[in-house]
Amino acid sequence: MKTQILNPNTDPTAIPLAAQILRDGGLVVIPTETVYGLAANALDADAVRKIYEAKGRPSDNPLIVHISSFEEIRPLVRDVPESARRLAEKFWPGPLTIILPKSGAIPDVTSGGLDTVAIRMPSHPVARAVIEAAGVPLAAPSANISGFPSPSKVESAADDMTGRVPLILDGGDCAVGVESTVITLATKTPRVLRPGGITPEMLRETLGEVEIDKAVLDPLEKNETAASPGMKYKHYSPKTRIKIYRGTQKGYLRYFDRHPAQGLFALCFDQTAPLLKVPVVTMGSENDGLSQTRRLFDALRELDEKGAACAVAQCPVPEGIGLAVCNRLFRAAGFDFIDEAPVVGLTGQTGAGKSTVCRVFEAYGFRVIDTDRIAREITEKGSPVLSELANVFGREILDKDGALIRAELARRAFSSKENTRLLNSVTHPAILRETAERAFALSEKNIPCVLDVPLLFQSGADAYCDVTVAVTAPFETRKRRIMARDGLDEAAAVLRMGAQEDESFYTSRADIIIENPDGGDPTDDARSAAERIRTVYGGKA
Ligand code: TXA
Ligand code: MG
Repeated sequence: MKTQILNPNTDPTAIPLAAQILRDGGLVVIPTETVYGLAANALDADAVRKIYEAKGRPSDNPLIVHISSFEEIRPLVRDVPESARRLAEKFWPGPLTIILPKSGAIPDVTSGGLDTVAIRMPSHPVARAVIEAAGVPLAAPSANISGFPSPSKVESAADDMTGRVPLILDGGDCAVGVESTVITLATKTPRVLRPGGITPEMLRETLGEVEIDKAVLDPLEKNETAASPGMKYKHYSPKTRIKIYRGTQKGYLRYFDRHPAQGLFALCFDQTAPLLKVPVVTMGSENDGLSQTRRLFDALRELDEKGAACAVAQCPVPEGIGLAVCNRLFRAAGFDFIDEAPVVGLTGQTGAGKSTVCRVFEAYGFRVIDTDRIAREITEKGSPVLSELANVFGREILDKDGALIRAELARRAFSSKENTRLLNSVTHPAILRETAERAFALSEKNIPCVLDVPLLFQSGADAYCDVTVAVTAPFETRKRRIMARDGLDEAAAVLRMGAQEDESFYTSRADIIIENPDGGDPTDDARSAAERIRTVYGGKA
């Protein structure tokens, strides 16, 4: 079949031609404000059958019937409830589809054998003009091959439908970019079956209580039936395999460093793109859901065009219109998630109470990584760090079995500033590497961890952390704690404290500050910090 692409803005024959084809039982691709639709006369069963054929769509997946004025709804449904009237008044014309019990006028093919029908009044002027000119309601699913991303640009519709339809109308890029919100009024409480440009919050303002179908964000269980048959099919999927990264922004960047692979792309927000070294396809602005819906399907198609084997996507926030982005993206990925837990860096002056805070974090499922212990472990017998130290400070630091004599190393390393510097230059990078490796390994298992590092900022370990926490306490408090804990006299305690940075060094750098004064209880602060980190960044308990 030869396919014509006409733009009604410049070609006055386009709309009348479309109307003629539709009245004659043919198919036309029309633009709408959501996505391009593959339209046929909704009341003509034979015409509707052609839609299923052209898309390769399963016959039990019902279509949406498009109308151009509210009066047209009456013959299509058994009854127009007050709630439908209110929704129409508020959101039509626009990206909202309403499901109601159908009348006898709707053929079974159009409603996929259900006794309800989905109706929507689009706002795109070309869509409205075509419906009016055709004089019949139009059944129109998205104009893509079934299972692939919906077309939000005329080029995408042409890619999928050329040769399958006689006419494609060019109405420019779709303003919303994902399909309409589908709400059913056929249940006791109105329920959103598919999120879209009209958010649950907007619907609740008009209707009061509105449920969100479980299938919106979760895969169906084996024995569950879909309230909306479209939800049970693999959907919106490009050829590129999509995975969704759920973790922090730093973790996302790290993922690509730690998993280099041929053909691996990042599907990321505009703001993240410049931070990545792998090939990227962007999917809109981080805090602007509408820019994401506009971009999403085009981005998925772009991945295929670029021959990406796999793309790891950033996860949008499933709120407002972001719910629609997540709904489409999760399906495109077949619910394949990469969940990584946050790495928290904990620091503070000696005696401030880091250990107390560590215990609280542990109660919240965090693993504590103790860098002092790592420092000891990396100098165990036979380790590369130990042989490096023996090269620098002499074999006399080793006993006859080749184990480190710590006192001997200390004697030599602390004999001069220069030697101390030498010691640190051997051990610090190794400690840092090992600490980061352990933290990342936990994060990749989705186990959150806390790095207990006195010199967090000074050593650069904070670069590996998603969140940094500083514990503070007044001078006198810390002094008393150090004296009690380490059995020091006052002078020795003060000397040790004097070697440290002052409090503002920590408080000006940390993301979260936990105060731990005498008689105070740092556990409340610590608990709320741990909870906050878990809610924002996740990780399994
Ligand atoms: O924005 C849109 O709605 C676009 C444009 C072209 O208007 N159309 C669209 O149609 O997205 P389609 O066929 O791709 O998606 C229709 C969705 C499917 O998930 C289908 O299962 C559901 O609506 N649906 C249709 N009628 C239904 C019914 N009676 N009960 C439950 N779900 C229904
Ligand atoms: Mg579709």
